[in-house]
Amino acid sequence: MQILLTGGAGYIGSHTIIELDKAGHSVVVVDNLVNSKEEALRRVSKIIGKQVPFIKADVRDREALDKVFKQYKIDAVIHFAGLKAVGESCEKPLEYYENNMNATFVLLDVMRKNGCKNIIFSSSATVYGDPAQIPITESCPKGHCTNPYGQTKSMLEEVLIDVQKADPEWNVVLLRYFNPIGAHKSGLIGENPNGIPNNLMPYITQTAIGIRKELGVFGNDYDTPDGTGVRDYIHVCDLAAGHVAALQAIQRKCGLGIYNLGTGHGYSVLDVVNAFQTANGLKVPYVIKPRRPGDIATCYCNPAKAKAELGWEAQYGIEDMCRDSWNFQKNNPKGYEE
Ligand code: NAD
Ligand code: UD1
Repeated sequence: MQILLTGGAGYIGSHTIIELDKAGHSVVVVDNLVNSKEEALRRVSKIIGKQVPFIKADVRDREALDKVFKQYKIDAVIHFAGLKAVGESCEKPLEYYENNMNATFVLLDVMRKNGCKNIIFSSSATVYGDPAQIPITESCPKGHCTNPYGQTKSMLEEVLIDVQKADPEWNVVLLRYFNPIGAHKSGLIGENPNGIPNNLMPYITQTAIGIRKELGVFGNDYDTPDGTGVRDYIHVCDLAAGHVAALQAIQRKCGLGIYNLGTGHGYSVLDVVNAFQTANGLKVPYVIKPRRPGDIATCYCNPAKAKAELGWEAQYGIEDMCRDSWNFQKNNPKGYEE
């Protein structure tokens, strides 16, 4: 199939190109590079041994997007494009709602006008809010999102569900990612956050390389085995492979599909620090800090539905994820900047 990846220069998109290529799909990327670098695509080209067609454009730019659909016969879209920093979304709610909502509205309209009604949407475990049950299944009710970023994901899920309901020719797959970490084994591509990382793994790798003095562990008084927050970390390459499986569902005309993409294992912050130290033979200094506002104690999924219906399950363990995250950091101390 010919697949359009919006936001395909980003962390998850760049890894997904490789899995799509392996599965025999062709890709084209549209990205405005607001949170990524074209260098990531050059490196993907190196890995797959062919050029990645790239159009630098904003998804909200209707004409530019329409041109892409006219030039390439797009069979399906994987919609990664969006702003994703939770803290920033609280400071700039309007920018987040405007970008994430409008980009999706324009995309869906251009898609239907061009007769393409197949979409995979990057959703998040954040839609479950403080989850009603652990492990989280897809039938678990959605919860209250404490930030505008999470709200956009939750609202866009509803928009996509309504679009599919109104026109059953649409195939819509909502993928609820848990916590992607890790990097491609080549060490050429990985997560490249701007400024001080908000997420755990980039903070750990930047501490290990000496950019940050120590990791702050946000709270050790949660109701978890060691008191620190528990999450379902998933290797980004496993996550990328989940998109290939979702495309197969689209080819089978799945209608609406909603899937958790996680490993089903919960690891605490200190478990991750220990796994990182063991996998890489390094020390990560840390201090206990107060809880981070908006955080929950425990979040991990039951990934059985994705296994049963998509034939997909995660292959990598926590030490693989820690090894590959470090491999990228160590080979690229300043990210893609060099
Ligand atoms: P990322 O920021 O690395 O990638 C997103 C890409 O979208 C970036 O390259 C950015 O430049 C681009 N973009 C943003 N707005 C755009 C617009 N209007 N037009 C064109 N391009 C635009 O993020 P990621 O980690 O690769 O995440 C991909 C998707 O998955 C996002 O929608 C994110 O919200 C979602 N998600 C990510 C995580 C995570 O932990 N990384 C978890 C759950 C869901
Ligand atoms: C965060 C977002 C979530 C988003 C997800 C993936 C919040 C409240 N939630 O989830 O909406 O979908 O990222 O991008 O931001 N931690 C530390 N020290 C750090 C960083 C994190 O102790 O410096 C802890 C956190 O408290 C948490 C765990 O590590 O217990 C994971 O944090 P993080 O990587 O930010 O992911 P989430 O909070 O799960």
